[in-house]
Amino acid sequence: MVKQMAKVFVNGYGNIGRRLASALSRDNEISLLGIAKYTIDEQILEDLKNKYDIYVPENLALKYKSSIAGSIEEAVSACDLVLDAAKEGEGYSNKIRFYQPLRKPAIFQGGEERHGERAVAKMIHNSRVNYDEASGKQYVIQGSCNVSGMGKVMQPLMESFGDEIQRYDVTLVRRWADLEDSKEVKDSIQWDKNPHHQEDVKDFIPHANLYVEAFKVPSRMMHLHQMIVRFRSKAPTRDRILDLFTKEFAVAILNSAKGTADVRMKAIELGFEHGDTNMVHIHQDVLRVQEETLKIVYSDDQTGLVIPENHLLLQSMILRRPRSEAVKRTDKLFRISDKKRLLEREFA
Ligand SMILES: NC(=O)c1ccc[n+]([C@@H]2O[C@H](COP(=O)([O-])OP(=O)(O)OC[C@H]3O[C@@H](n4cnc5c(N)ncnc54)[C@H](OP(=O)(O)O)[C@@H]3O)[C@@H](O)[C@H]2O)c1
Repeated sequence: MVKQMAKVFVNGYGNIGRRLASALSRDNEISLLGIAKYTIDEQILEDLKNKYDIYVPENLALKYKSSIAGSIEEAVSACDLVLDAAKEGEGYSNKIRFYQPLRKPAIFQGGEERHGERAVAKMIHNSRVNYDEASGKQYVIQGSCNVSGMGKVMQPLMESFGDEIQRYDVTLVRRWADLEDSKEVKDSIQWDKNPHHQEDVKDFIPHANLYVEAFKVPSRMMHLHQMIVRFRSKAPTRDRILDLFTKEFAVAILNSAKGTADVRMKAIELGFEHGDTNMVHIHQDVLRVQEETLKIVYSDDQTGLVIPENHLLLQSMILRRPRSEAVKRTDKLFRISDKKRLLEREFA
C-alpha cells in the first residue's frame, strides 16, 4: 500500500514563510500543498507561478482565479497541518476563522501570544527541550529566534550543572530588521520595557532563574546574546564548557569572527540557502570564565534558526517520530552538520 504523504500548507509568505516553503518543497516525505498570498498582483503571480500553488483570501479568489489554486479556506480544508507564518498577531484570527472550525492542527510562530485572550496554543516548542511533548498536539507555538537560541544554550548547561547554577542574566542585542525587509533601520538603540523572551523561555524551562533584557540596534545582521551564568561556587573551565557544546545540533563554535555581519556574509559567500546558517554560533574568543561567573556570547541567525525547528516540530506533531530520527532528517534537509563544519573551519 502506498503511504499517503502529509499535506502541509504554509499560511503567510514573508521572511519566515518563504523559507518554510522552500525547505518543505525539497522534503520528499511532505507534500507541500501550497502557500498563501495576501498581497497579490500580476507580477507576484508571475514570480511564483512555477514554484508553488497559490491560495488567496476569498475576496481575491474570483479576480485571480485563472492563476491561483484556490482560497485560503480551501487550502486549510485540504491539508493535514498548517504552518502559520502570518505577520505577528494574525495567527490568532487565522486560528479562530479557519483552523478551529476545520479542525486542523497548526504550528504558530514566535510572534503569537502564549497567554491571555489572544493565546493561540498552550505550549512553546524548543526542539532541545520539549520535542516529545509536542507529539500529537493540535496547536503549538514555535519559539521565536531569540527564545529558540536561549533554549539551545541553556538546556545543555542545565543538564550538566543543574543546581550548581544560581541564575542566568541574558542581554539580547536584537537586529532591527531582516536583510529582505524594506523597512527603515532607525539610528537608535531601543530598549524593551517588558521583553516577552523571559516568560517564553520559562514556558519550556520553568525552573530557570532567568532574567532577560533586550535592546534593538540598527543592524540587519543577526542577533547577539550575552548570557551571564552565575554558579554557586567556582564556574567550570572554558574547556569543559566548550566540550559541552561541541556535539550540540545546530550550535557552532567559532573563534575568529569579529561580528555578526562576518558570519552572515560568510553564509552568503558559501552559498547557504537564503544566506541562513540555521544555527547559533558561540564565539569562543569572547567566552570568559571569571571566578563564579561564566560569560557566553553567541550570535543567533534570526531568520534561519526557526526553520529547522519548525521542521522538527511538525515531525513530532503529525509524524510522532522519535527525536533522534527527526534530527537526522532535519540535518539532511538543511545540511546543518555540514554548514557547522564549514563555518567552524572558516572561523577557526
Ligand atoms: N523575521 C524573523 O527573523 C523571525 C524569526 C522568528 C520568528 N518570526 C515570527 O514569524 C512570524 C512571521 O514573521 P516574518 O518575519 O515572516 O513576517 P513578514 O516578513 O512581515 O511576513 C508576514 C507575512 O504575513 C502575510 N500575511 C498577512 N496577513 C496574513 C494572514 N492573515 N495570515 C497569514 N499571513 C498573512 C503577509 O503576506 P503578504 O506579503 O502576501 O501580504 C506577509 O508576507 C511572526 O510571528 C514573527 O514574530 C520572525
